[in-house]
Formats: sequence, C-alpha cells, structure tokens
Amino acid sequence: MLHLKSPSNDRWLRQVASHFDEILIDHAHCEKKAAGTALNLIFHYVEDLELCREMAAIVNEELEHFQMVVDLLNRRGIRFRRLKPSQYGRKLNDLVRRQEPQRAVDRLLVAGLIEARSCERFQVLAEHVADSEIAAFYRGLFESEARHHATYTRLAMHFAPEAEVMQRLEELAASEAAIISEGESLARMHS
Ligand SMILES: [Fe+2]
Ligand SMILES: [Fe+2]
Repeated sequence: MLHLKSPSNDRWLRQVASHFDEILIDHAHCEKKAAGTALNLIFHYVEDLELCREMAAIVNEELEHFQMVVDLLNRRGIRFRRLKPSQYGRKLNDLVRRQEPQRAVDRLLVAGLIEARSCERFQVLAEHVADSEIAAFYRGLFESEARHHATYTRLAMHFAPEAEVMQRLEELAASEAAIISEGESLARMHS
C-alpha cells in the first residue's frame, strides 16, 4: 500500500537507540518541511482546484504535527534547534524531471514516497521504542502519513495517465529504497 521497496534496517534502529533526541528534533523539522512542500505545490499548480484543497488540508495537518513534536520536545526538556538535514530529501528531489507535466508527476510522487517512508518509520518507532508516551505518539501519527501518501499518488494522476504514473512510481520507489539502504552517518528521521 505504501509502495516502498524495502523496510528500514537495523542500522537505522541503532541510530535511533543512540541518538533519539536528534531524531526527535529532526522529526519536527520534517513536519515543517512537509507543510512547506504542500504549500509550494499550491503556488505551482494553483489552477488545479482539487490539488489546492488537498494541499491546504495537508499544510494544516503537517503544521499541527509540527506543533505536536515541538511540544513533545519541550515537555522532555529538549531544545528545538537547527540541525544539518539528511541528504535524503535532496537526493530524491534531484530525481525530479525538469519538464512539465512530468515535473508535477515527480514532485507529487517524491512527496508521497517521503510520506510513505515517514509512515513506515513511525510504525517501527511505535513498535521498538520502550517509552510508552513516545510509542503512543508515533502510533497516533502513522495513519495520517499513510493517507498523505495515497493523496499525493492520486493527485499525480491529474498530470499523466495512471499506467504512466504507476510505472514512474516503481522507478522512484526503487531509487528511494537504494538511498535508504545506503544510509548516512547523521542520525535523522530519514537516515
Ligand atoms: Fe506529518
Ligand atoms: Fe504527512
């Protein structure tokens, strides 16, 4: 359902265990970026009414998630601060084709894959983190990111026929899995 080609590996779980505060801070940044991505799509595809409606809903939801994570950090005495981002988003955005309407298809599919990976990782955190507040927190967020993934994939079909979109999703999902399996040394939500 999430179209991911590989599950998260033990390397990431070890990063979670050793740098959990950093992952939580990065999570807040991810929610802020997710709101920004949805808002940018409204700016670029303003004539697509359904896209505008769906993106406006996602902007609101992601900002709400951002506030929730910032509140969680605050309750735990962790200062929200700037972090060097992971290379995951940049690597995926580098795959976006330049020409419209392929550009729109890729932007939506990449946004959807990032949602899918977040969703998968939230589920892993819900299952593996011993702290019950954190586990419940991630269990609560899981469903909305799965829904966002489905919305982005569906909206991509406004810009190309379904078969073409699904074929491109296969290609991008394979690249996404390769980026995740390569990993990176910084402990991040998408490292
Ligand atoms: Fe979110
Ligand atoms: Fe989301």
